[in-house]
Amino acid sequence: MKKLVVFNHKMYLDFFDIKDYISSIKDNIRTDITTVICPSDIFIPFFVGKYDFKLGAQNLCSTFCTGEASALMLKSIGVKYVILGHSERREKLNESYSDINLKIKDALSNNIVPIVCVGETKEDRELKKTGEVILKQLKEYFRGVEVNTDIVIAYEPVWAIGSGVIPSNDDILEVINLIKNAIYRVHNINIRVLYGGSVNEVNVNDLERINELDGYLLGKVSSNPEKVLKLLNSVK
Ligand code: PGA
Repeated sequence: MKKLVVFNHKMYLDFFDIKDYISSIKDNIRTDITTVICPSDIFIPFFVGKYDFKLGAQNLCSTFCTGEASALMLKSIGVKYVILGHSERREKLNESYSDINLKIKDALSNNIVPIVCVGETKEDRELKKTGEVILKQLKEYFRGVEVNTDIVIAYEPVWAIGSGVIPSNDDILEVINLIKNAIYRVHNINIRVLYGGSVNEVNVNDLERINELDGYLLGKVSSNPEKVLKLLNSVK
């Protein structure tokens, strides 16, 4: 299967950056891997339709609420993927297991592929609870969900996001296997697992040695055209 690389622009780019960003990447993006760009909602229209990447969103809202965007609205503008359960939203906006569960169901019923983030905090890791925490997240997020092979899980250790520190390849591999086996046991299917957290154009070369990895969820580096194009060139 083609590798999947997801760009999470978070809040890095503004209106003045977007035009240059698009012109730098549009003709240079690799087409032999699947690239999903998740701009801020307000900039999604600039990315619509014309390019060789898929359109994603950084969130969706399952209830009718001022200032938010629903799965239906995202679908109507061509969004095909959505990042759900990102740790910044879990921490800062108190997104609960059931909020994320509802969002996953909402995305699926609108034919949007959820990219579901799981991962342990530094404290969990120190207490050697990584496996336990991730299994709990999987159980709660996918409660009552008919999991299909399109669904993507991103392993994002909370302590690795934006910190410049990443786990060893062995540690990442252990978690990838844990996730794939857990989903297979319950749902009898194989799903794709990405790694995210401080991936850059240099350390991607080491990460590429993990054969079981299906791609990456990129944060900061994805907002820098030069670096992200270099990174993509290292993806096998
Ligand atoms: P980072 O963020 O690559 O900037 O660490 C990754 C993410 O939060 O998805």
